[in-house]
Amino acid sequence: MARTVYLNGEYLLENEAKISIFDRGFLMADAVYEVTSVLDGKLIDFNGHTDRLRRSLDELDMKNPISYKELLEIHRELVLLNNINEGLVYLQISRGAPSDRDFVFPNPDETDPTVVLFTQNKPGLANSPAAKKGLKIVSIDDERWGRRDIKTVQLLYPSMGKMMAKKVGADDAWMVQDGHVTEGTSNNAYIIKKNKIITRGISNSILHGITRAAVLRFAKEGQMQVEERNFTIDEAYKADEAFITSASTFVMPVVEIDGNKIGHGKPGSNTSRLREIYLEESKKAAI
Ligand code: PDD
Repeated sequence: MARTVYLNGEYLLENEAKISIFDRGFLMADAVYEVTSVLDGKLIDFNGHTDRLRRSLDELDMKNPISYKELLEIHRELVLLNNINEGLVYLQISRGAPSDRDFVFPNPDETDPTVVLFTQNKPGLANSPAAKKGLKIVSIDDERWGRRDIKTVQLLYPSMGKMMAKKVGADDAWMVQDGHVTEGTSNNAYIIKKNKIITRGISNSILHGITRAAVLRFAKEGQMQVEERNFTIDEAYKADEAFITSASTFVMPVVEIDGNKIGHGKPGSNTSRLREIYLEESKKAAI
């Protein structure tokens, strides 16, 4: 069934939504995005995603064309129209479509941003079989640009990273810079050693994950120790547990890195507990 999507103020069938070939999202990856998960028909961590969206727009000097209230309304309307119980809402704002290709930003008084939202239906998202099995990860060099804290649609290298993983029979890749793990291709990366959760601190080198912030908060509330610091890939090989977080995977165990089994090669107990807590608490707070 064709989805109903949102484009610049209109709800349209997906095959009726068209944007200009001069759109800067298309020509220059001059666009930012957010992915918000939906559980039981409600939005998870919506305020966190909206705050980060505003920050991404500000960092790129892009006009914010839409209020929090409108965004919430559109998200909810799309979830209803497309009958989403479990899934995702994708939101993208580009700097819009000037009348020609030009490296210089268009005058924001003349060119309005392009706003696109669509849903992805994912029944079984919370009860994913991958969460019981765990993921196999390979490490790759981090060859992305330096402002990974801005959630832009420049996703070619992360896509290439997923393909590098797939080619060798793994599920995903962790990126490594100067010997230290930065993050996963589309998620934040963690190890657990002696019951302590270790993850890279926030900086321009990684995306400031909304799921990350919530999981670290729940971990601290649950009296688990958290250390935000760089860790090496060698340290990861010897970890007791490892996992990733993102809006589309929540907390997902990692059971193998570059062929090295993590713990006993099965999802760790701390990781499984964190996943349960995250799902329970964020469902309670969903709007
Ligand atoms: N990706 N790091 C990167 C590079 C990401 O692309 C993502 C999210 C995260 C996790 O952020 P959050 O917890 O806010 O989802 C970390 C989304 C899900 C995507 O691109 O589909």
